[in-house]
Amino acid sequence: MAKKIKPVEVIDLDNMPKPGYTVPKLTDFSASALDSAVRELLSGLDQEAEKVSSDSDWKAFRDRWMARKNGILTQLNDLWLKAAPTSNKPHVGQRVNGLRKTVEGMVEVTQKRLLFNKAVATEVVHPGNEVPAAELEAYAKRVQLAAQRLDVTLPGIRRPMGAEHPVIKTMNEIIGVFRNLGYSVEEGPEIETDYYNFEALNFPPNHPARDTQDTLFIAGQESKPLRDRLLLRTHTSPVQIRTMQKMKPPVRVVCPGKVHRNDAADATHSPIFHQVEGLAVDTNITFCDLKGTLDHAMKALFGSSVKTRFYPSFFPFTEPSADVQISCIFCDGKGTRDGAPCRNCKASGWIELLGCGMVDPNVYGFVDYDATKVSGFAFGMGVERIAILKYGVDDIQLFFQGDVRFLEQFG
Ligand code: PHE
Repeated sequence: MAKKIKPVEVIDLDNMPKPGYTVPKLTDFSASALDSAVRELLSGLDQEAEKVSSDSDWKAFRDRWMARKNGILTQLNDLWLKAAPTSNKPHVGQRVNGLRKTVEGMVEVTQKRLLFNKAVATEVVHPGNEVPAAELEAYAKRVQLAAQRLDVTLPGIRRPMGAEHPVIKTMNEIIGVFRNLGYSVEEGPEIETDYYNFEALNFPPNHPARDTQDTLFIAGQESKPLRDRLLLRTHTSPVQIRTMQKMKPPVRVVCPGKVHRNDAADATHSPIFHQVEGLAVDTNITFCDLKGTLDHAMKALFGSSVKTRFYPSFFPFTEPSADVQISCIFCDGKGTRDGAPCRNCKASGWIELLGCGMVDPNVYGFVDYDATKVSGFAFGMGVERIAILKYGVDDIQLFFQGDVRFLEQFG
């Protein structure tokens, strides 16, 4: 009996499935090594996408690249990103994310090409409407290319420039004026003790002057002695006490910062606002120095034609105390504008802007300065108030709402 001969298997080398792309293990994570690894991956992706010619091809293609378990994208995570040394991770992460988008895009485009081919095929197989296969393929290819097209002439993605916040901008301007006069800048905590916010500033316990400060207290402090209780500072004057505790005269400082008061928000009030306060202590400092300094500062901030006027006032930590008014910048101090009473200064020609005075000798007692040897002045101004006047803003709330249409005007 003749033996059955097994037919010889003919191997057609040209039609063997070519091994597809495999993710290499990276050891070199330099930009150039990454570049070439990325290039290799992209050419693998292109070649495999091109071979997709049926729905089942496409599914296999999609899974091979995108399957959660062991898809090529997952392998990139494991073999590139996780293997990268920490310093290279951000860089490698960026590349892997970019590749993820490219692969997802390619999978989508490839599916579209299939759908399109199908649509064209059904239409053209219609009797009398045949199109040569080669032409069809060329057409499909064109569609795929069109879908992938990148128009380099399109405008780029605009990254809006940030702008300094008008409050910070104004604060820096104020600080700049005093820096030029030789003042340095001191900052302090926003949560203060009763001692620094009140007692050392000569506000005795239960003194009615405390009521003018509408203080927000931190809850649960009742068991502590009054001076240790915490509150949100109502002014930056406590920084002046802290400064005098650590520096001997001569002292010339400005204290910028955020302060809090229990005020209901409206067009001119906000429970959070900013101040710049100043302090100068030396021998022989007089009220004239105070007047000259603030007159100069107001001219530097609002223009050289602005006049200042000092009006008697009261603060527990200064004696004498004054409110400083500037001539109205809207009506040039006339009180009328275009024949009508000026609304900005209520027709008075003056706008009240800041508080000041000669440091009360009692305050020196709290910081171990010799009140018989030194004298000094202090002043304090609200930054929002100055910004409102300088920039013609009609509602203080605009500073805190974060509306870019408002903020970008200060860029
Ligand atoms: N600390 C005062 C306030 O916030 C302002 C001020 C500072 C007044 C310095 C006089 C001297 O109301």
